[in-house]
Amino acid sequence: MKDIGILFIFLIVALAFSCKHEIPVAPADTNKCDTAMVTYSISIKGVISANCGHCHGSTVYTTKGSGYNFDDYNVLKNEVDNGNLAKAINHLPGVVPMPLDKTEKISTCEIRKFMIWIDAGAPNN
Ligand code: HEC
Repeated sequence: MKDIGILFIFLIVALAFSCKHEIPVAPADTNKCDTAMVTYSISIKGVISANCGHCHGSTVYTTKGSGYNFDDYNVLKNEVDNGNLAKAINHLPGVVPMPLDKTEKISTCEIRKFMIWIDAGAPNN
């Protein structure tokens, strides 16, 4: 009878461990870049505020952003029209590469969306 008790405990422990199945998680598809609907409000504004806002936001731009307030669409649009926004995010010569405090560019997907938006005339949509 004692043996059956020990066997029982063994079974419980074995069962408990057998439940540690790893649920496979699909790896994030890093190649996926949804450019189906690129708009200023959906694709651009948030990226600017996350990567550029701490220098070009409306509360800091005079001291940290060299006077460029990119919370103001018209200021950003001006940098589109003179070609500097595209140059800055692509790290092309002629302007200071942005974001200024990082060596890396914003992501390839973000840059693609910016270029789509810029090529469309940078609408305030
Ligand atoms: C650490 C602060 C900082 C961050 C972050 C930053 N900028 Fe700038 N940005 C500056 C400063 C300072 C200048 C003025 C550079 C100069 O002319 O010397 C500038 C200038 C610019 C200009 C004008 C072109 C030029 O080089 O004069 C553009 C366009 C620009 N930034 C875009 C961006 C974008 C887009 C981001 C985010 C992806 C960004 N910046 C992030 C500080 C920053």
